[in-house]
Amino acid sequence: MLAQGVMKFLCLLVTFFGGVTSLRDVMLLVEPSTVIRGGTAALICSRDMQGAPLYSVKWYRGNHEFYRYTPMEDPDTRVFGLPGIYVDMNRSNGTQVLLRRLDLTLAGNFSCEVTADSPSFATQIATKFIDVIALPPIAPVLKADKDRYQPGEVLKANCTSSPARPAANLTIYINEEALRSSETSLHPSESGLLWTSVKADVKVTPELFLGGRLRVACLATVYDVYRSSANLDFFTPDTDPRPERITLNSASKTFQSWILLFLLFLLPVVMGQDYIVPFVEYDDYDDKYEAVARSALLGG
Ligand SMILES: *[C@@H]1O[C@H](CO)[C@@H](O)[C@H](O)[C@H]1NC(C)=O
Ligand SMILES: *[C@@H]1O[C@H](CO)[C@@H](O)[C@H](O)[C@H]1NC(C)=O
Ligand SMILES: *[C@@H]1O[C@H](CO)[C@@H](O)[C@H](O)[C@H]1NC(C)=O
Ligand SMILES: *[C@@H]1O[C@H](CO)[C@@H](O)[C@H](O)[C@H]1NC(C)=O
Ligand SMILES: *[C@@H]1O[C@H](CO)[C@@H](O)[C@H](O)[C@H]1NC(C)=O
Repeated sequence: MLAQGVMKFLCLLVTFFGGVTSLRDVMLLVEPSTVIRGGTAALICSRDMQGAPLYSVKWYRGNHEFYRYTPMEDPDTRVFGLPGIYVDMNRSNGTQVLLRRLDLTLAGNFSCEVTADSPSFATQIATKFIDVIALPPIAPVLKADKDRYQPGEVLKANCTSSPARPAANLTIYINEEALRSSETSLHPSESGLLWTSVKADVKVTPELFLGGRLRVACLATVYDVYRSSANLDFFTPDTDPRPERITLNSASKTFQSWILLFLLFLLPVVMGQDYIVPFVEYDDYDDKYEAVARSALLGG
């Protein structure tokens, strides 16, 4: 009973003096949350001083201090050279330090330590693991074993993403639909990164040629910071692979002819004040408006 009372009293005492020292809620925030190699990152040290004066804020990587803010000193900021750490002094202050040209080797624990001034000299430290990622330098490469497929054949596709860290996620799409049954593997690269490859076998059926076209796509992603894709189009064996033939049915062909007639004969009248247009320019109009008409039709 007595021991419990003493404990309660001690707890109260600690809480009370904790309140006096005031400093609390020291937090290290990283902006952006995903740090990319070669990019910048702001390490923001937020805290609640509760009105207490600030003595210093120190930033560390591991146990090594690389930046210090001491408002009572002149200059109030100091940088301690650390390999691979490039502090942008113009954008660093007592709240944040901006790092540039971040390298993969910098991934690790970063801390900020806040110290209140006398009388308390209370100190709190916040630590956070910061990862640095490397994005694939080029788009994924998608290959198929043949240029054309007959229904009944198996389309063998493979897609590879260039080295990254973490490895990029690869997804193969058949006509915009993600393929579930694909085989993904990871391979180490010479530079210590990982490249991904994915293989898929697709049984080709006539139904896969939507409007005469079968599209195989490969999408590489890294979290929500990287997206790049590659496409391969296959056309039904007996069709000409020109998009206007394939995407237009006969009804819209009539419409296209109508529009072209309109553009060819009426537009020069509507647009040019004089009816006599030099032949070369007329030809130029023709091509341009045909392109416009076609893109309008394809878009719609
Ligand atoms: C910091 O600002 C100074 C003066 O405005 C400028 O000369 C210098 O290039 C800037 N440094 C960086 C790293 O932006
Ligand atoms: C510190 O610098 C950042 C970025 O330059 C700025 O947004 C912020 O207001 C500054 N904070 C203080 C306390 O000067
Ligand atoms: C970072 O800190 C955590 C927890 O303190 C520790 O488990 C981990 O090993 C540290 N990582 C590195 C790279 O030092
Ligand atoms: C991917 O497919 C192409 C063509 O079929 C082939 O030459 C290449 O070796 C394949 N690559 C892998 C990693 O399977
Ligand atoms: C890959 O996808 C998995 C599952 O959706 C996800 O948890 C992981 O974060 C992704 N990795 C990358 C590098 O985008």
